[in-house]
Amino acid sequence: MALMRKKKKMADLADPHDLYQRSVQDTEAEIDFVLETWNALRDRPAGVLREDFCGTANTACEWVRRSEDHYAIGVDIDGDVLDWGVRHNLTTLDADESERIDLLQGDVLEADCGAADIVLAMNFSYWLFRSRPELLAYFRSVFDGLSEDGIFVLDAYGGYDAPREIEESRECDGFTYIWDQADFNPIDSGMTCHIHFEFPDGSRMDRAFSYQWRLWTLPEIRELLLEAGFVSAEVYWEGTDEDSNEGNGIYEPSEVGDADAGWICYLVAQR
Ligand SMILES: C[S@@+](CC[C@H](N)C(=O)[O-])C[C@H]1O[C@@H](n2cnc3c(N)ncnc32)[C@H](O)[C@@H]1O
Repeated sequence: MALMRKKKKMADLADPHDLYQRSVQDTEAEIDFVLETWNALRDRPAGVLREDFCGTANTACEWVRRSEDHYAIGVDIDGDVLDWGVRHNLTTLDADESERIDLLQGDVLEADCGAADIVLAMNFSYWLFRSRPELLAYFRSVFDGLSEDGIFVLDAYGGYDAPREIEESRECDGFTYIWDQADFNPIDSGMTCHIHFEFPDGSRMDRAFSYQWRLWTLPEIRELLLEAGFVSAEVYWEGTDEDSNEGNGIYEPSEVGDADAGWICYLVAQR
């Protein structure tokens, strides 16, 4: 009697970190923004970038690729995700680039890695600090970890869909990305969100990533950045493409935004 081997589904064969990088991250656009912003604010080239909550260190790799004067330090608490980044991202760097990147396993609150010109906290990771004192402590530790003219670049999202318990899906190359705002508590603004992936064969990777965080507002974040000691905390809002009426990918300092259903912006705090 022949043994029947069950054919593996696409979800079983896929790698969640690879899917995350391909659906969530745009490290080239991120580093373009960081460099343009630094060059607009400072008269010297930037050297050291610290990527907090670096995960697979994809963005840190992009930083060292851009210039032989660029150094990167990635900080993440999870040794497994850092290992994945070493195996899949750092191996794509040439010998000189690899010399200029270090990964540190630990809590961002205790990151002690010398003065950085730029600290990056992307994809809302700092929202895991759910109280004012906790977020202030993090912002103070970033302030202390910057060179005297250093800048802190972070992102935020919002809009009237942000606190709703809804799912949004987006087609990617070979799979569907699903953002699931599973639970929102209006009393403390605590949220549970998940990322799921679906595949053309009907299989699904459920809760590939889950986040428990607080939906912070821009005025709260700016006030805490100033309280932590930064001299400014500017919001960089995305412009609108006149033909499509969609975002044009160009972020500029602004004091007025649009009351849209969903927006993503950058914040830049100067030490
Ligand atoms: C949403 S991922 C962010 C990945 C990447 N920064 C990006 O832009 O897509 C959040 C990461 O933060 C890490 N993390 C959570 N708490 C942390 C902490 N206290 N210190 C350092 N890393 C932490 C997790 O291990 C995870 O890799």
